This record gives sequence, structure tokens and C-alpha cells, in this order.
Amino acid sequence: MEKLIELIKQEDADGWETLMFLYNAALKEINTKIDILNDEFQHIYHYTPIEHIKSRIKTPASIVNKLKKNGYETSVENMVKYVNDIAGIRIICSFTSDIYLIADMITKQSDLKVVSVKDYITHPKVSGYQSYHILVTVPIHLTQGIVDTIVEIQIRTIAQDFWASLEHKIYYKFEGNAPDYIRRELQECANIVSNLDRRMLSLNEKIQEFSEKNS
Ligand code: GTP
Ligand code: MG
Repeated sequence: MEKLIELIKQEDADGWETLMFLYNAALKEINTKIDILNDEFQHIYHYTPIEHIKSRIKTPASIVNKLKKNGYETSVENMVKYVNDIAGIRIICSFTSDIYLIADMITKQSDLKVVSVKDYITHPKVSGYQSYHILVTVPIHLTQGIVDTIVEIQIRTIAQDFWASLEHKIYYKFEGNAPDYIRRELQECANIVSNLDRRMLSLNEKIQEFSEKNS
């Protein structure tokens, strides 16, 4: 991170553009890595753990909002220091077992540095939110040297993603103050989601056992 801040300070007015360039490059690198992992998995096991991938760069307005919300002034340096999800990737898979498989494959890559891991599947948030988060830095090779650039990776099942999308909409609709009955309903739905995920996983294991016996 020091290297990135140093680089941006040198460039002054162009700092923002450099930053966006770096985060875009980091997304490309991670996207390619994940694509390759998925292809290799398909090649060896004839099974693709990843349903689909979404990636995005946070909008300037949303970056500024986040800084404000946390009491920081708007500056390119503060963005680098305090906003960890400017570059974000979301990996959607079928089963919770896939989540840990994918997380393991990512964290084992020797050129990525794992900054933090949050397992909201083993420990869901009070809202009911379930997902697996990994913050990594990706080395980006520039003419001036290597800059480690941070990317937030969220890994979740289709069902968890369905829940999170709706909850996100509701959160914004009520500006974070949803009435109690809606909150409770969402928590209840989150329980249904984790139940469904468990049952689908167990069903899938039974199907696999069946195929193994009959092959
Ligand atoms: P943020 O300031 O929200 O980024 O949280 P954080 O820095 O403490 O990190 P955390 O891992 O808790 O959350 C990172 C991201 O996960 C958020 O930006 C959301 O995309 C997602 N997320 C976290 N909690 C929730 C939740 O309760 N509901 C939904 N829909 N998404 C969530
Ligand atoms: Mg975020």
C-alpha cells in the first residue's frame, strides 16, 4: 500500500486516474486467475464449481460516501487507505462446499497476498447475511515497479446471493432503518436459505454416491 500512496502523491492531479487504472488492472488479473481455476477444475473433475462471476469498480459517489460515513476527508490517499472494496469481485457457486474449495484455490496462489478473511457462513451477520469474504492484494507490474493493489472477493451460493440482493435493496429503500417486522422476516428468510443450502448439498452428495456405485 505504501508504494501505491507514494505513486499517487507523485502524480498529484493524475492520482485518481492512476488509481482507477490500477484497480481495473487488478480486477482483470483476478478475473483471469479465477477463470483459469474454473477451467482447470472442469478439465480434471468434469465439474465447474463457479456458476458465474461479477466484478465492479465502486462508483466515485459511493467511494466518497463511504469515506464520509467513516469520518474521513475525500482524498485519493484516504481512498487507498480506508476503502478496501474499490475493486470487487463476486463469485457465485452452487454449493457451500464450493465456496471453501474456491477460497482455498485462491488463497493458495503464491502471488496473491491475503489481507483478511471473513467467514460470514460459519458466523452470519445479525442481519442474516451469509458470504465468504477475502481481501487480497494483486501485484500489478508498472514501468515504475510493482504495486500491490487490493481487491475484495466475495464468494457465496446462488441462494445466499438471492437473499443479499433483496436485502441490499430493502436496506437502501429504508436508508438502513427497516422496520422490525421486515428485519425479522429477512432473518427468517436467511434461515431458510441456509437450510436450503444444506439440503441441496446433501442431495448433491447422495447423487454423487449413487453415480459412483453405478459406474
Ligand atoms: P462495508 O463498510 O459495508 O464494506 O463493511 P466492512 O468493511 O466491515 O466489510 P464487510 O466484510 O462486513 O462487508 C463488505 C461487503 O459485504 C459490503 O460492502 C457488502 O457488499 C457486503 N455485506 C456486508 N454485510 C452485508 C449485509 O448485511 N447485507 C448485504 N446485502 N450485504 C452485506
Ligand atoms: Mg462494501
